[in-house]
Amino acid sequence: TQALKGEYDHFLLKEIFEQPAAVSRAMGEGGRLLHDFGTAKLGGLNLDKRDFFDIERIHVLAMGTGYYAGCVGGAMIEHLARIPVQVFDASEYRVSNPIVKRDTLYLAISQSGETADTILAVKEVQNKGGRVLGIVNVVGSTLARLTEGGVYTHAGPEKSVASTKAFTSQVTVMALLALLLGRMRDVPVRRGKELVDAMMALPDRIHETLGLRDRIKEIAEKYKGYGSMLFMGRGNYYPIALEGALKLKEISYIHAEGFSSGGLKHGPLALISPDMPSLFIAMDGDFLDKDIGNIQEVRAREGKVIVLTDSDDPRLEDLASDIIKIPATDEVLAPILAVVPLQLFAYYVSLALGREIDQPRNLAKSVTVE
Ligand code: G6P
Repeated sequence: TQALKGEYDHFLLKEIFEQPAAVSRAMGEGGRLLHDFGTAKLGGLNLDKRDFFDIERIHVLAMGTGYYAGCVGGAMIEHLARIPVQVFDASEYRVSNPIVKRDTLYLAISQSGETADTILAVKEVQNKGGRVLGIVNVVGSTLARLTEGGVYTHAGPEKSVASTKAFTSQVTVMALLALLLGRMRDVPVRRGKELVDAMMALPDRIHETLGLRDRIKEIAEKYKGYGSMLFMGRGNYYPIALEGALKLKEISYIHAEGFSSGGLKHGPLALISPDMPSLFIAMDGDFLDKDIGNIQEVRAREGKVIVLTDSDDPRLEDLASDIIKIPATDEVLAPILAVVPLQLFAYYVSLALGREIDQPRNLAKSVTVE
């Protein structure tokens, strides 16, 4: 295995660092983008373009990290294409006697393509006549074969139980789908081209973000001793906060929970004390002032705050106990960058604690039983 890990101590770190290449492959090295038309080209959807006119809503089915990729990507589709998207825990969907309709497009997201809960949810939809597309990493896997069409993420083999490059590749594919559907509806060609350019530059931006590894390692060592930690984000950074909390609990065994920043006052604030640090994703944009207000509330209660941001707002420097500054990109794509420091943080906390990392206790890479 050491040979397979190359220069890295763990598959997890290797896979985190493979993300520029994985995201680039998810875009077909550019071949899935049509720059002149500012849109995407996805050959495997197996849908007539005209079928797209009839899509009134999208239901996404997935588990674990794939579920959060669905949340982030679903919001991209809603934003660009104005098609309502709902994301479901596949195990819950399956037992909910789901309402399956002709004008709903079903998307199953899975790295392995072998997750029992997701497969069973897909079969439930198909038995009721629904059409399901897959966003799957493993070529020829059960879900890839079961679905009517789809898009391979092409992230390459992922060995570490905690999913990293599969996640960013899944969100990238969802962004391609959002661009394609958006350009068929309201998005003008100029905005489409802007997004294509930003997507082409994304691997470089991820590479720059990975350059923060030493800074994040330092921060991780400061926070490794806490028994619990909160992750907060707003809008499309809320699912990123949930994913950040999932990464930390999976591999470090530190209790971590994600909340919406706006939800802070509705409960989590009661947990804040000098012993309960939080990580706030506070990105540039319309809601930065609100994020700053939330961080002030936590600081006023002596909670330590790690701020993750792409903004130069000096108030963030002043408020943060520690700050992680990531590069800016198009606001639609920024969640893909924001997750990378959270992956590195979970990795370095776990490394400092001497955890197993690639094979956390009690967890499996692919859960093939219900
Ligand atoms: C397990 C893995 C997770 C993964 C989830 C869904 O819980 O430990 O990393 O996100 O299954 O797996 P899938 O292969 O369907 O994406």
